[in-house]
Amino acid sequence: MFSFTFCQWRPNNLRKDIFSAIADGPTNKLLQSLLVQNIKAKFPDVQAVVGLESRGFLFSFSIAAELGIACLPVRKKGKLPGEVVAYKYELEYGSDILEIQKNAVQPGLKCVIIDDLIATGGSITAATHLLKTCGADVIGCLLVIELTSLAGRQNIPKGIPVHSLLSYE
Ligand code: PRP
Ligand code: MG
Repeated sequence: MFSFTFCQWRPNNLRKDIFSAIADGPTNKLLQSLLVQNIKAKFPDVQAVVGLESRGFLFSFSIAAELGIACLPVRKKGKLPGEVVAYKYELEYGSDILEIQKNAVQPGLKCVIIDDLIATGGSITAATHLLKTCGADVIGCLLVIELTSLAGRQNIPKGIPVHSLLSYE
């Protein structure tokens, strides 16, 4: 049903290219509707959908719009206007900083993090720390693709459920 082409991703890595899936209209519609179904079923209390720049945005907006709840962007350093909260994290090839607008998150806000893919889990883990710094309640993560051979879900802080639509080695 789902077919992906591969693209270069970070030095010496190939990965499934989410753009090749959403370029097909019916596949795009199916993925978006499966994400909405999953979030409703698994996280019925969700109050905000947090999308990770940039590919997470392909899905976070449509889910939040469908549910009529907040759509909050987490972006890389220096891209969000206004006051931000930042979180620095280490990568295999250096470090990065994620930011969220300070006023976007009220303490206790029940958030679900959305991204296209989990590999090492570094991006999602950093986002959970960022949101916790803001006082948010991260109730789960929802991904389109999980690369199981990298065991990224084991790096996500304990107690935060991780769901993915599609798993590949
Ligand atoms: C990719 C992908 C995920 C992340 C997964 O994003 O979209 O966000 O890597 O890898 P991880 O689990 O090892 O953190 P990337 O940083 O390449 O940026 P992009 O979404 O802007 O393409
Ligand atoms: Mg990404």
